[in-house]
Amino acid sequence: MPSGKRGRFAVGTPILEAARTLGVYVESVCGGRATCGRCQVEVQEGSFAKHKIVSSLDHISPRGPKEDRYDRVRGLPEGRRLSCSATIQGDLVVDVPQDVQVNAQVVRKAATDRIIERNAAVQLCYVEVEEPDMHKPLGDLDRLKAVLEKDWGWKDLLIAPHLIPQVQGILRKGNWGVTAAIHRDMDSSRPFIIGLYPGLKNEAYGIACDIGSTTIAMHLVSLLSGRIVASSGTSNPQIRFGEDLMSRVSYVMMNPDGREAMTKAVREAVNKLIGKVCAEGNVDRHDIFDCVFVGNPIMHHLFLGIDPTELGQAPFALAVSGPLQYWAHEIDIEVAQGARLYMLPCIAGHVGADAAGATLSEGPYRQDKMMLLVDVGTNAEIVLGNSTRVVAASSPTGPAFEGAEISSGQRAAPGAIERVRIDPQTLEPKFRVIGVDKWSDEDGFQEAAKTIGVTGICGSAIIEVVAEMYLAGIISEDGVIDGTMAERSPRIMANGRTFSYLLRDGEPRITVTQNDIRAIQLAKAALYAGVKLLMEKQGVETVDTIRFAGAFGSFIDPKYAMVLGLIPDCELSEVKAVGNAAGTGALMTLLNRNHRREIEREVALIEKIETALEPNFQQLFVNAMALPNKIDPFPKLSQ
Ligand code: FES
Repeated sequence: MPSGKRGRFAVGTPILEAARTLGVYVESVCGGRATCGRCQVEVQEGSFAKHKIVSSLDHISPRGPKEDRYDRVRGLPEGRRLSCSATIQGDLVVDVPQDVQVNAQVVRKAATDRIIERNAAVQLCYVEVEEPDMHKPLGDLDRLKAVLEKDWGWKDLLIAPHLIPQVQGILRKGNWGVTAAIHRDMDSSRPFIIGLYPGLKNEAYGIACDIGSTTIAMHLVSLLSGRIVASSGTSNPQIRFGEDLMSRVSYVMMNPDGREAMTKAVREAVNKLIGKVCAEGNVDRHDIFDCVFVGNPIMHHLFLGIDPTELGQAPFALAVSGPLQYWAHEIDIEVAQGARLYMLPCIAGHVGADAAGATLSEGPYRQDKMMLLVDVGTNAEIVLGNSTRVVAASSPTGPAFEGAEISSGQRAAPGAIERVRIDPQTLEPKFRVIGVDKWSDEDGFQEAAKTIGVTGICGSAIIEVVAEMYLAGIISEDGVIDGTMAERSPRIMANGRTFSYLLRDGEPRITVTQNDIRAIQLAKAALYAGVKLLMEKQGVETVDTIRFAGAFGSFIDPKYAMVLGLIPDCELSEVKAVGNAAGTGALMTLLNRNHRREIEREVALIEKIETALEPNFQQLFVNAMALPNKIDPFPKLSQ
């Protein structure tokens, strides 16, 4: 339990062996020597369908001297047994306790809890190597390889070159007992010894990292238990070279050392972040053996030291689109010397390894429903499909959704207005500010807002305020602020030849101008036209389910996104924010190497659509400038 698998075994079979035969993964580092403690199980009372068991404990071997020694030295929790030592004597119900359930890592996300089956690329294997013998001239390394094959089944082992000069010293230091860290997902497809330690080594970690243009997010994970030990983020220091992606490409084009400087900056930030998660999780960074990275194509290129200039102009050629493997130190990542680094494949010129990660996480190809997956940033990455066919594109939404190019816009941070409502009768607004737990018309708001300071309006509120203005009749379907409304409310103010809406009178004064609305219209039209183009390619009029990935998607209210026509008509309950889905995809490939093959296979099958080359993109864009759309209906919205 909890897998529910069952079988029949000869009396005397170790529980670990029975579990493996049944395909239940129970970790073992010491190879059944009762020293690592990784194989713990609980033997419960219980019943099978046919046999009532009074006490399972009668049907298991009593503790032997090795298990007793482990209990004395390391301590075995009440009711636990070492499955490598305990043997079956009769019918049993065996529990793999949650903390040792190595094949189940639950990732809590906004929309779903995801269970990741564990099958990490790195495994720790303890062996006892035969001592040298004058009559057998086989080298120390060769005898090490031989015993790794005999005890653990590793054939054709290779070894990281830096370890070769260390083998003799490590074997003698461990008194011929050593732990090898084996990586089994190398390009060569042969298993590799990437680390070697005297005695029993009982911990191995990995990192999964999403390099976003604004934020770098990282999980530190135990590769043996599958547990997330720490998660953290930091801002991407490349921001000082340019806020958005294109300005970073321009920086590279205009500065001879630009690419190098940005590569150095992001690698330094990643190394610092590793330090941070390791400090939080009390882990030595040299115990990190595997790293997985995702990022949009420009972040991907800059991190790997590749010039991204080609991505700044048509035909947006990637230097490399397939998956990549490195020694982590080749990318200056400071972890175990033999650690490996895996980069997910990119889908297309502007649909990167981050979109591949999100696709793996949400899995449109694993289901029959037509799923729309969007990651909105300065460039929207869009994936649409189901188990039959998946298509993908990017669309240049620009930075308006992130608060840039908006007169009072700012990033989501304390002091930013995040929610807006407008009374359709009086046209009076109320709003909420990040860091203040009240609406602006509630008691105590003014005082709380004074300490935080209201500084501007962030992306989610820009969507809401424009949608609320539309619902209140302040703006027309074409997005024009109706000047005649000025007679009804002093909040509609003339602003040269156009009008503005006064959202907050005070210091600073926050208004929504005609230009702001235009910027939002352009951004949402780009997103919608990209989505619509993919829907046309799929031959569908509607989508069944929508997933918003990324930070923006977590804050946006689906109803307002639909009122404005950012996304197509869909059952509101089917529109979900899934947080950092790209990071979840990275985590999946870190914990289970089969997911690497899965996404590599799927990415190769995804049809890439280049919006700039599609003749009807322009018309779809023009239609989508209207609120919510010039021709497309939104029946679910009116329900
Ligand atoms: Fe190591 Fe059982 S396998 S203690």
